[in-house]
Amino acid sequence: GVAAIVSDKLLQWYDAHARDLPWRARPAEPAPEPYRVWLSEVMLQQTTVAAVKPYFEAFTLRWPTVEQLAAAPEEDVMAAWAGLGYYSRARNLVKAARAVAELGAFPDTEEGLRELPGLGAYTAAAVAAIAFGRRAVVVDANVERVVTRLFNLTDPLPGVRKAIRTCADTITPEERAGDFAQAMMDLGSSICTAREPKCLLCPLANDCRARAEGDPAALPVKAPK
Ligand code: ADE
Ligand code: SF4
Repeated sequence: GVAAIVSDKLLQWYDAHARDLPWRARPAEPAPEPYRVWLSEVMLQQTTVAAVKPYFEAFTLRWPTVEQLAAAPEEDVMAAWAGLGYYSRARNLVKAARAVAELGAFPDTEEGLRELPGLGAYTAAAVAAIAFGRRAVVVDANVERVVTRLFNLTDPLPGVRKAIRTCADTITPEERAGDFAQAMMDLGSSICTAREPKCLLCPLANDCRARAEGDPAALPVKAPK
C-alpha cells in the first residue's frame, strides 16, 4: 500500500544520505549498542546534534560501558555534563545507569525502558526501535513537522498530536523501525525544514499532501496565543 511505499522510499533515501553520527551503527554492525543509543537520546532530548557530539564522545571515552557509568560518582557525571543544561537529565542518567547495572542489561522493550528514570515516551520508543529493532512509533519535533506535511494536518498543536501519532503509526514499517525513525529525523533536519522545505530534493515529494494541496511551510500550525 501507500504506507509501505513511503517507508521504502524513505529507507532507500536514508541508505544513501544518512548523517554519520557517532551513536549510530558502525559499518557491518547490525545495531548500535543500547548504551550508546540511550546516552545519545537522553543528550538529544533538549540539545542540538552539533552541541551533543563532543559530549557524547567525551562520555563514551571516559565511561565506555553502562556499568562504568553506573560506578561513577554522581558529581563526576554532573561535572562532565556541565554545559549541556537541564541537569535533572544528568541525575536521572546516573540513576538509570545504576538500574541497568542492577538488572544486568537494558530492558529491550518500550514498556521496560519506560521504567528507567528519565525515559519518557519519546526516548523509550527511540531506544526500543534504534537499539532493539522494535516496531515503535518515534515522534520528536522533526517527525511532527514531516508528518503534518505529508498528511496535510492543518489543525494546531498541541491538539493535532493525536492525529500525528496515528499517521506516524500508519507509515512506520515492521522492519527497520529504528532506521525509519532516524530517517524521518534526518529528513526533517536537512530537507523538510521549518521555514523553507526543499521539496524538490525530497524523496517523499510525490506522496506529500501539503505539497500537492497545501502550504508545507505553514505546518505545523501552532496554537493561537
Ligand atoms: N535527535 C534525537 N535523536 C536523534 C537521532 N538518533 N539522530 C538524529 N537526530 C536525533
Ligand atoms: Fe516536507 Fe516538502 Fe517533502 Fe512534503 S515534499 S515531506 S513538505 S520536504
